[in-house]
Amino acid sequence: MAQKEISQAVIRRMPRYYRYLGELLDAGVERISSNDLSNQMQVTASQIRQDLNNFGGFGQQGYGYNVKYLYEEIGKILGLDQVHNIIVIGAGNLGQALTNYVKFERFGFKIIALFDVNPALEGVSVRGIKVHMLDELDDFCANNKVDIAALTMPKAKADITAKHLVSIGIHAIWNFAHVDLDIDNEDVVVENVHLSDSLMQLSYNIEKNKK
Ligand code: NAI
Repeated sequence: MAQKEISQAVIRRMPRYYRYLGELLDAGVERISSNDLSNQMQVTASQIRQDLNNFGGFGQQGYGYNVKYLYEEIGKILGLDQVHNIIVIGAGNLGQALTNYVKFERFGFKIIALFDVNPALEGVSVRGIKVHMLDELDDFCANNKVDIAALTMPKAKADITAKHLVSIGIHAIWNFAHVDLDIDNEDVVVENVHLSDSLMQLSYNIEKNKK
């Protein structure tokens, strides 16, 4: 059966379900009603049902959701049942911080190398993962399965680097550089992360509460 197109709004809510269900699973909870899940997540029960119905439901009337099953199914929907190898381009503060965060591996995201142009970083390891010089990038990608490139480098070079990554076969970019990448290729997916956007929203809400 051809899978129908799921809205990005639903997809964006899935990681949160996954996180909650993971916590329930860790706490030994075997099943949960949509009402209880709704209370914990502060999402209406009908929203939960609607969201999960996009993927065929998973709930049983009067029984609720089987936590492990739902957790695993959402994991499959999000592609977390596969290992995704990541390379980090820019081994500075942010690149190293991401690499030092071990818990991405729990979800199958494995950082396998960092790249930088600063010769002082050549041969340095972060959590046992080697920093390579940028001129080794093409060979590395030809010889290793690379699923995602994280861009944690200055924005001035981010676009040209992204284009080069696409030209050598990288199809997913996790972009932290504050620039809109100009990639005209529908086979390439880009996810932009801007922590400052989140801070600005927080700042807006602080101001709003003062009024
Ligand atoms: P940093 O200066 O500590 O690290 C940048 C690294 O990139 C340096 O090691 C530098 O040698 C390397 N680099 C420079 N040109 C390169 C190239 N052509 N190819 C590969 N590596 C190259 O900077 P930091 O604090 O780690 O920030 C990195 C980037 O992330 C910046 O663009 C910054 O604006 C952005 N950033 C984004 C955040 C977000 O929420 N999206 C949060 C923090 C930083």
